[in-house]
Amino acid sequence: MIRLDRFLSNATTLSRSQAQRMIRAGRVCVGGAEVKQAATLIPLTSEVVLDGERIEPPLPRYLMLHKPRGVVCATEDPTHRTAIDLLGLPSPAGLHFAGRLDIDATGLVLITDDGQWSHRIVSPGSHCAKRYRVWLADPLTDRHLMQLMGGVVLRGEKRPTRPAEAERLSDRECLLTISEGRYHQVKRMFAALGNRVIRLHRESIGPLSLDAELGAGSFRPLTSDEVAFF
Ligand code: URA
Repeated sequence: MIRLDRFLSNATTLSRSQAQRMIRAGRVCVGGAEVKQAATLIPLTSEVVLDGERIEPPLPRYLMLHKPRGVVCATEDPTHRTAIDLLGLPSPAGLHFAGRLDIDATGLVLITDDGQWSHRIVSPGSHCAKRYRVWLADPLTDRHLMQLMGGVVLRGEKRPTRPAEAERLSDRECLLTISEGRYHQVKRMFAALGNRVIRLHRESIGPLSLDAELGAGSFRPLTSDEVAFF
């Protein structure tokens, strides 16, 4: 079920408040009957007519964003710019993140209003692989690489992390691929080894890599093939 005003704003270029005004003015019919309450819940398959014209149901939205530093993965925030603000969409209601990034992290963030799709990415049982490029305060030793690959015990937890893939790129830089999504997991994995992450960039989620053409702060819709990855 979806609110009538959200149906209209997601399916057209109308903003939510424009849709509400039109509904209140009696310009919208659902299943042949006039509906004047914007909050009315209707099935997505309803026949919605605006000024005599049938409105096709809104398609689910699937976006990839190159998150810049300083932006929070939240729908609202009292002090910081949110990743949803960055999209500048007229009707962002219902959009959520298929996995967040910390405010100081950059890279691939997936945003959708399809809860089943995002669940397949973030649910603990999915073990979806996320690859991060990590810059460290101190050199990464071979022993630490082995520990990351075997699993480390995070502070305050008992169960070690699932085995990760770790590849050294330089003395203080590596690629780390993890298949869990514990709170601040990458930073805490390196903290458990006595090191510190100074920069973190997500390159990919499952088979989907951040589009190299997307500068920081830009986004694009996923292709249907990309949506079908999950
Ligand atoms: N791990 C972290 O520590 N931070 C992120 O933003 C993502 C993974």
